[in-house]
Order: sequence, then structure tokens, then C-alpha cells
Amino acid sequence: MKDNVLNLTVVLADGTIIKTKRRPRKSSAGYNLTGMFIGSEGTLGIVTEITLKLQVIPQETSVAVVTFPTIRDAASAASRVIKAGVPIGAMEIMDEVQMSVVNKSKSTKKVWREVPTMFFKFSGTKSGVRENIDLVKKLSKQCKSIDFEFTADPEEQKKLWSARKESLWSMLSLRKGDEEVWSTDVAVPVSRLADIIEVSKREMDELGLFASVLGHVGDGNFHEAIMMVDRALEMEGTCTGEHGIGLGKKKSLVKELGLDTIGVMQKVKLALDPNWLMNPGKVFDHPAETNPKGT
Ligand SMILES: *[C@@H]1O[C@H](CO)[C@@H](O)[C@H](O)[C@H]1NC(C)=O
Ligand SMILES: *[C@@H]1O[C@H](CO)[C@@H](O)[C@H](O)[C@H]1NC(C)=O
Ligand SMILES: *[C@@H]1O[C@H](CO)[C@@H](O)[C@H](O)[C@H]1NC(C)=O
Repeated sequence: MKDNVLNLTVVLADGTIIKTKRRPRKSSAGYNLTGMFIGSEGTLGIVTEITLKLQVIPQETSVAVVTFPTIRDAASAASRVIKAGVPIGAMEIMDEVQMSVVNKSKSTKKVWREVPTMFFKFSGTKSGVRENIDLVKKLSKQCKSIDFEFTADPEEQKKLWSARKESLWSMLSLRKGDEEVWSTDVAVPVSRLADIIEVSKREMDELGLFASVLGHVGDGNFHEAIMMVDRALEMEGTCTGEHGIGLGKKKSLVKELGLDTIGVMQKVKLALDPNWLMNPGKVFDHPAETNPKGT
């Protein structure tokens, strides 16, 4: 999303209203304030207007669903597709637990195999899409893919994508009593994706937790009901690919970036918000309250 934000109107702590950029696509005019406000989780100002980039509607779109014997095979296919530079609109992974949840909840109009599954979206010209599907099929085969289903028909595309679309709701519908679903995310370099998914699934099983893995693997990001922050950091990853820091991951941010980097963020915040009014307590604490050990 952040790459689609062109400019913002922001109200600062002292009431000043600023715009972060003008119209041209390209600009080297000063600091990138658009980038600074995005992801600041409300700690630098209140965003009141956002101008987004529009994308051209592609001539052709298509969806493919590919099953694999293991999550490692599925993740390896994802990283092969990325390494081969195949243009992909979306690439999602769901483990056998998540596929079983979707299948059992009957929230879609399709019966699913309860095995690790990858979902791909392609877009572009007719011939480009066909070529990319063939490439992905070939790369998946090299990773022991079982079935390869694809369609360009709009209704069929919806049906094939429905498992991904309904995954959260299927999970929520399984709750009993006061059970809660805790959804969080990490991201690692794509080359470590298979490793972290495998390790975190094993550790969750050992802890006796019911957890599923699903992820937007195109950028090495996956979501899980339990935090695997330390594992991700060991793999040169990040404690959050998109959910953000908020209150829950403040300590993880210290582990990930270190106090020097957070010190720079605190200085930026103090310059814009000297009275620490904007969403206080989120992302990091006031320097006076920051414990050097981050505890
Ligand atoms: C972004 O820039 C365009 C062109 O100057 C302007 O029309 C639009 O209102 C701006 N948006 C924001 C949120 O400042
Ligand atoms: C500024 O940051 C935004 C958001 O990360 C990014 O989309 C944009 O390309 C950046 N602009 C420049 C000039 O670097
Ligand atoms: C998937 O769900 C269908 C319909 O409920 C069921 O018949 C089928 O056995 C399920 N698949 C597996 C592998 O359990």
C-alpha cells in the first residue's frame, strides 16, 4: 500500500496543516515526508487526506491454485517464482491446517484438498498471462506440486480465490466459548521463508497451540496466530511486515533496530510533537521512559 500513497494532508500537534508533496510522479524535493508519516501509527500527526495512485485495469487476469506435499515445497516454489522474476499480481501460501479450516467451515463453494496450497494471481496481456502461468507451472513441478488448477473466467477466479478470501472468517467461525483468534505477522527474506514457516509450525505444535499459517509470500511476509518474532529476527527479518508495532511489539522493535535508531525516531517525534500528544505510548516510549534494555 505504501507505494501507492502519493501525498498526504497532515494536521500536526500544534494545529499546523501540511501537505507532503505536489503532483509530479517523481520528486526529489526535500525529505520524503510522505514516507515518514506512513507507518508512524499516528504518533507524528493526524492524516486527514490521502491521495492514492490509480492502477490501470489489466487486459487479462487469471488465478491459479497449486497444492504441494509439504509446506517447504510450497515455500520453495514461492521463492523460485520470485527468483525467476515472474511478474505475479499476488502470491499467497496457506498451510494444511488453514486449508482444513476453510474446507471444514464450508464457507466457500468448493471442496478443498487439505494440503499446503499456493494461490497465484496473474495480470497483464493475454499472451503475457499465459506465459507466466506456464512458467509458474513448470517451477511448481520442480517443487513436487500435486494439482495445478487455473482459470481466466471471472466467476471461476472468485471461486478459486475464495479459500484465501474466507480464511480469516473460517478461522473465526471455529471459535468456541471465549476463545480468541490472535493474528500477528512477521517478515523474513524470501530465501528464509521455508525455514521460518517450518520452525514456527514445529514450535507451535510443541506448545500445543492450534495455529495456521497464511501469508503474502511475494514479499516474505506471513501471518500466524502466534508471534515468531525472535525466529524472524534471527533470520534477518522484521517483527512486523504490515501489522505494525502498536503497544505489543515495542520491545521487538528495540531488538530489531536498536536504541540508536529508535533514538532518531524519538528526536523526529519530539521535533514535531514536543508535548508527546500524538498517540502516546505507541511504537516507542518517551526518551525519559525508555529503558536501555527495552524491558
Ligand atoms: C496531492 O496533490 C494533488 C495535486 O497537487 C492535490 O490535488 C491533492 O489534493 C493532494 N492531496 C493531498 C492529500 O494533499
Ligand atoms: C516516499 O515514500 C513513499 C512511501 O514509502 C514512496 O512510495 C515514495 O516512492 C517515496 N518517494 C521518494 C521520492 O522517495
Ligand atoms: C473437505 O470437505 C468436504 C465437504 O465437507 C469433505 O467431504 C471432505 O472430506 C473434506 N476433505 C478432507 C480431506 O477432509
